Amino acid sequence: MRNLTEENLTDAVLGRLSDCGNPRIRQVTASLIRHLHAFIRDVEPTPQEWFAGIQFLTDTGKICDDKRQEYILFSDTIGVSMLVDAINNRKPIGATESSVLGPFYVEGAPERSSGADLAPGEGPGVLVSGMVTSTDGTPLPDAVLDIWQTAPNGLYHVQDSAAPEHHLCGKLHAGPDGRYSFRTLKPVSYPIPTDGPVGKFLEELGRHPYRPAHIHFIVSAPGFKPVITQLFTEGDEFIETDAVFGVKNSLVVNYLPDGEEWKMDFDFVLEPQH
Ligand SMILES: [Fe+2]
Repeated sequence: MRNLTEENLTDAVLGRLSDCGNPRIRQVTASLIRHLHAFIRDVEPTPQEWFAGIQFLTDTGKICDDKRQEYILFSDTIGVSMLVDAINNRKPIGATESSVLGPFYVEGAPERSSGADLAPGEGPGVLVSGMVTSTDGTPLPDAVLDIWQTAPNGLYHVQDSAAPEHHLCGKLHAGPDGRYSFRTLKPVSYPIPTDGPVGKFLEELGRHPYRPAHIHFIVSAPGFKPVITQLFTEGDEFIETDAVFGVKNSLVVNYLPDGEEWKMDFDFVLEPQH
């Protein structure tokens, strides 16, 4: 076809996919073209607006390096990361729900037994405790909880050169009854990085960059599907407006006074691997 018009252009582009030998790439590309063309027809951008879009994507790529992933941040802030997470983690009722991994997970946190203190000498602390079970209620004594969170200054240890290595992190092994406990500090709410194109984008939209306070977990046990999740603090001022849309009701927890410190209980429920 050589008489390409506003009306027939989409079909012409889709037609060029017929020689693609990979059915999944063909399906994904066809969907992308259909949706992108529909978006352009909806918005009718001027050439200047089209170029502003190109410039945003260019700037987003330029700021990425081996430590910073601005495209993931973009995906997070428009709800795409949580949508992909939801599609890939359809849990049976009762199983602990998932949330995004986030950019601050570091493998290789020190192994710790249940009862460990992740913040010795710092306080006031929180005693976090609970149980890890299967969806049928069976305790899972071989469960491991990989834990990471912010310090009171709002930084993860990987962001803070002054923090001790693996500060407020650990790979905690549940006890023989499937119970676990550890002492840590209350997490705090923090802003996602705002010094790049995504920060400017949020500002343009009139959105704040904050995430409500949370502790990250990857909970696993042999024979069970691991869950990547976060526990959010009830009453946090950003609980309704998480910048990355990660909050679920079942993951919101209460911190209760416990003498001079705090306590928080949460039971994790894992789904058997099929
Ligand atoms: Fe986080």
